[in-house]
Amino acid sequence: ALISMRQLLDHAAEHGYGVPAFNVNNLEQMRAIMEAADETDSPVIVQASAGARKYAGAPFLRHLILAAVEEFPHIPVVMHQDHGTSPGVCQRSIQLGFSSVMMDGSLGEDGKTPMDYDYNVDVTRRTVEMAHACGVSVEGELGCLGSLETGMAGEEDGIGAEGKLDHDQLLTDPEEAADFVKATGVDALAIAIGTSHGAYKFTKPPTGDTLSIQRIKEIHARIPETHLVMHGSSSVPQEWLAVINEFGGQIPETYGVPVEEIVEGIRHGVRKVNVDTDLRLASTGAVRRFLAENPAEFDPRKFLKASTAAMKAICKARYEAFGTAGNA
Ligand code: G3H
Ligand code: 13P
Ligand code: NA
Ligand code: ZN
Repeated sequence: ALISMRQLLDHAAEHGYGVPAFNVNNLEQMRAIMEAADETDSPVIVQASAGARKYAGAPFLRHLILAAVEEFPHIPVVMHQDHGTSPGVCQRSIQLGFSSVMMDGSLGEDGKTPMDYDYNVDVTRRTVEMAHACGVSVEGELGCLGSLETGMAGEEDGIGAEGKLDHDQLLTDPEEAADFVKATGVDALAIAIGTSHGAYKFTKPPTGDTLSIQRIKEIHARIPETHLVMHGSSSVPQEWLAVINEFGGQIPETYGVPVEEIVEGIRHGVRKVNVDTDLRLASTGAVRRFLAENPAEFDPRKFLKASTAAMKAICKARYEAFGTAGNA
């Protein structure tokens, strides 16, 4: 059944687990997410970005998610709009039937320009008013996502501030977070605690302190009723990078957020964990390997099946690690 983010994350908070929010653009991702959830008895958050709407078209995305609900009626599904850049964008998603929207007012409508606090409060409060009247949940964002190592937002073509960020922009201020939640009424808050979007988060192998767990604790202590969200939470599996590069790819050395650090964040109030890049890497690795090993094959279903299986394995691993499994 389709449920709101508030319903699902309240349950997650009560039982101390986190929920991965996977981005969805096509049938193969949708199947991977749902089959993994089915096999691990996990509730689901699927999210569609502006890029996904551009790729698949809003009606196809909507019906893909509704098809998932129809085929897996026993699994709770949140249909979330990722990184809305204006109240108008969020309104259109609500009209399409999304049960949750993100109003990312930390950046302007271009998705690149860092905006001031008052702007963020204004667009987010307006979105909450509209969404809550329709029973739809709202995620806001405060602070600028960026790697604590590189100071960069990370995403080349998607959402993210341009140029190098100052250290104080990279960590959400706990007092400001408390004011923001009071002023806007958001259900969930995306915080800057060291993550960044995309595959290029860290240049060196992680040593256990890629995230500021301390800052998560401070924010959670100030706003215990608000569900914390971590964007940019792909772990960038080294085994898939190796497969990609073994079969003709060229991806330079790079590292993501270790799953154990995310699990530590979940212990301190993180409830929604956004993962997109890991499914992209697994899918690409599986397709490259399949086509290299089966050069005479030309039925796309064959390599897409390999892609789905690879993504599904990542989804299952995250449902299990984050404690989502067993809670559908
Ligand atoms: O926030 C970024 C997500 O990874 C979605 O990326 O805009 O390329 O679909 P996208
Ligand atoms: P990754 O690029 O780390 O997968 O993050 C995805 C995300 O935050 C989508 O909003
Ligand atoms: Na989101
Ligand atoms: Zn994001």
